[in-house]
Amino acid sequence: MSNVTMEKIVSLCKRRGFIFPGSEIYGGLANTWDYGPYGVELKNNVKKYWWKKFVQNRQDIVGIDASILMNPRVWEASGHVASFSDPLMDCKNCHERVRGDKLIESKLGIDAAVGKSLKEIGEIIKKEQIPCPKCGKNDFTEARSFNLMFKTHQGVIEESSALVYLRPETAQGIFVNFKNILATTRKKIPFGIAQIGKAFRNEITPGNFTFRTREFEQMEIEYFIKTGTAVTMFEKLKQESWQFYTELGIKADKLRFREHDPKELSHYSKMTVDIEYEFPFGWGELMGLAHRGTYDLTQHSKFSGEELSYFDPETNEKFVPEVIEPSFGLDRSVLTFLIDAYDEDEISGEKRVVMRFHPVLAPIKVAVLPLVRNKTIITAKAKEIYNLLKKDFYLDYDESGSIGKRYRRQDEIGTPYCVTIDFDTVEKDNAVTVRNRDTTKQERVNINNLSSFLEQKIAN
Ligand code: GAP
Repeated sequence: MSNVTMEKIVSLCKRRGFIFPGSEIYGGLANTWDYGPYGVELKNNVKKYWWKKFVQNRQDIVGIDASILMNPRVWEASGHVASFSDPLMDCKNCHERVRGDKLIESKLGIDAAVGKSLKEIGEIIKKEQIPCPKCGKNDFTEARSFNLMFKTHQGVIEESSALVYLRPETAQGIFVNFKNILATTRKKIPFGIAQIGKAFRNEITPGNFTFRTREFEQMEIEYFIKTGTAVTMFEKLKQESWQFYTELGIKADKLRFREHDPKELSHYSKMTVDIEYEFPFGWGELMGLAHRGTYDLTQHSKFSGEELSYFDPETNEKFVPEVIEPSFGLDRSVLTFLIDAYDEDEISGEKRVVMRFHPVLAPIKVAVLPLVRNKTIITAKAKEIYNLLKKDFYLDYDESGSIGKRYRRQDEIGTPYCVTIDFDTVEKDNAVTVRNRDTTKQERVNINNLSSFLEQKIAN
């Protein structure tokens, strides 16, 4: 029985060192979160798997790592200066700031909210008497457009000529490097460029733990294609994106595709399909797949004066490629893996919390546990086994507390295997007990075969 709630996830994350509130000793900074020792392992494992699947295991996608700060003209060209905004309203009674479209969506559904002008948003909220989520009154300021990009200044002079933005998506770092990548890799269309990195958005209503924050990481691919191939490529990348989650153990019945209504599309998109997950607070977007057409390369060509086209050596044609973009939220994915893995069950009448992470994602792969701690022959053997396994697996070594308590601790952080060293290991059979997290079944494995036994179970 899962019985998962956001409260349980937030509390487990804090208690076991997955995710802490940001700047906590100073009273925190709203909606900022810091990944702790197990959280950073989990997050790195998600990145590693994604990078392997979409970059290293295939010939048609290469990676880059571009700067967060970019020439501000990039954001004029991309349309973010003019169009990357949300409808902001203030409650006149309690001064709560709300997103007008989200307020309508929560009461009347998404169809009632999409594609509405600022004026229409104000009118609907008034007509439907939608209350302020904080004080319950219906008395808001007019809706105004609020640009979500964070601004800062580069250098020592705080003047407009030194204005720079923190990138709101990693995608633009890819488009501005299109020419460099083409020249250095000689890739033939269709090919993609992938990037993992931070993005920043001054969200009006962040919340639901790490689901919506102002600083987050994205894993994005811009996939460049020939006109006329978009439908096939879109479908292929859509399936591959879905598989990314199911291969890592996400339950398929908790996932769904959702196609955007044309009125809901971002300024650059001709078509968007999201993969959504059923979070404890309802269905929410995990990643989005957009058909960006030739929008970005055309815009950058216009604004930079550089030609950003592709020459096809087979047809001797020059053209601006179209783009299909799978864009994954890394922090949202990590949150999803945490929620989906959470389980509660009972072992011989004793309740336990167990994180059923896919072994590839588990922060700790194997825990080495000497059965008793004050017997030097056993701890010496346990340390020997620790040293033997540490080349291949990220391990924990724990000798404090009863063996039952130690198993519980490992279950709670999702360690797939525990290796216990006892008297028989040293005196009789040169074997250890390997305990499976999910079944709690135990089996004796000879130390000579231990590494390969675990390797088989935990395909890295
Ligand atoms: N380049 C396209 C793009 O940025 P998006 O739908 O705005 O598209 C892509 O963002 C993904 O980034 C989302 O599906 C979500 O997983 C993640 N994301 C967006 N805003 C976020 C936020 N404020 N906090 C956490 N993740 C966010």
